[in-house]
Amino acid sequence: MNGPQRFTPPPGRHAAISGWGIAVPEARLTNQDWVERVETSDQWIVERTGIRERRVAGPGETTASLAIEAGAAAIKSADLTPADMGACIVATVTPDQPIPFTGAYVQDGLGLRCGAFDLDAACSGFVYGLVTASSLVASAGMDAVLMIGSETLLRITDWSDRSTAVLFGDGAGAVVITPSDEPGLLAWDLGCDGSAAHLLTMPAGGSRHPTTHETVDAGGHYLRMEGQEVFRRAVRAIVESAEGTLEQAGATAADVALFVPHQANARIIDAAAARLGIPPDRAFVNIDRYGNTSAASIPLALAEAADAGRLKPGDLVLLSGFGAGMSWASAVLRWTDGRVAPTAS
Ligand code: ACO
Repeated sequence: MNGPQRFTPPPGRHAAISGWGIAVPEARLTNQDWVERVETSDQWIVERTGIRERRVAGPGETTASLAIEAGAAAIKSADLTPADMGACIVATVTPDQPIPFTGAYVQDGLGLRCGAFDLDAACSGFVYGLVTASSLVASAGMDAVLMIGSETLLRITDWSDRSTAVLFGDGAGAVVITPSDEPGLLAWDLGCDGSAAHLLTMPAGGSRHPTTHETVDAGGHYLRMEGQEVFRRAVRAIVESAEGTLEQAGATAADVALFVPHQANARIIDAAAARLGIPPDRAFVNIDRYGNTSAASIPLALAEAADAGRLKPGDLVLLSGFGAGMSWASAVLRWTDGRVAPTAS
């Protein structure tokens, strides 16, 4: 595990979330829909994962189109316009295509007048991006940064493989980061253990295994995962990363008003929360409705928590994600009521 890292914003200029939005496809895939396709049961999926249904992108929907919809909602919620954005980051493992990056389509679709780029740290991508976006505001002087997590995981899933197919879903969540008087991001931890990269891969389609008829015949364009080992590491990574980040923030689990973890498996969330000493009613769970949406899952959960009134100004929020790489990332936020108008540049 990497050691905790420190982030000390320059005095006086801080960054906080001031807007948020989500976009999910209309079409739902229920557990019963999977029962009709592979040898599984509603009981197995619910008991082992907590998932009851997930959304699936329809014709014409892509990672970029979901990102654009979520991004537009976040910008509106921050009371800003696309022209106010200083940068746009799209966290995703399911880009629209290898070239160009998905951010290019998002920039065009939203009419942004700023730079855009993709960030891939799998299910930890949103927290990696949140730290990057906050730094762009607090340290690089940008007045607003749009941070989006967007995925269409069911497009890289083998629909005949019950061990992965039932786990994933499509969707997007976005936040806008703007300057704030008080620090929004109090502490963070970004980690990676590439020696375990083989546990979760989509092996073909890159420079290691360029796409050929053979890679397609072998299903190399589908996601593969050693689920049990990922599970074991996930709980340990979340707990160690979250504890280190809370310590950096000078806080304990008792101070956490809401734990918003990556939604990969309800049992991982329960185990991590229990080890951290966070009661179940302070852990936000929406995996039952969306499945695992990788980089989209934390912003989807955060936005739903905010819309449900689960976050009040001053609340301490703990975000924690882990995923392919293996990567992990945690952040402790002080929730503000945001909506601070950007300073003129
Ligand atoms: N329906 C019914 N049975 C199934 C299914 C299914 N959909 N899938 C697997 N099984 C069977 C297996 O074949 C196995 O049968 P066997 O005992 O006869 O061999 C049995 O169920 C148990 O399988 P396990 O893999 O041991 O089940 P487990 O309890 O570990 O749950 C799961 C599997 C849900 C995948 C779990 O390991 C998990 O959640 N892992 C972590 C996933 C994760 O967090 N991914 C990270 C992020 S993803 C990203 O970064 C893109």
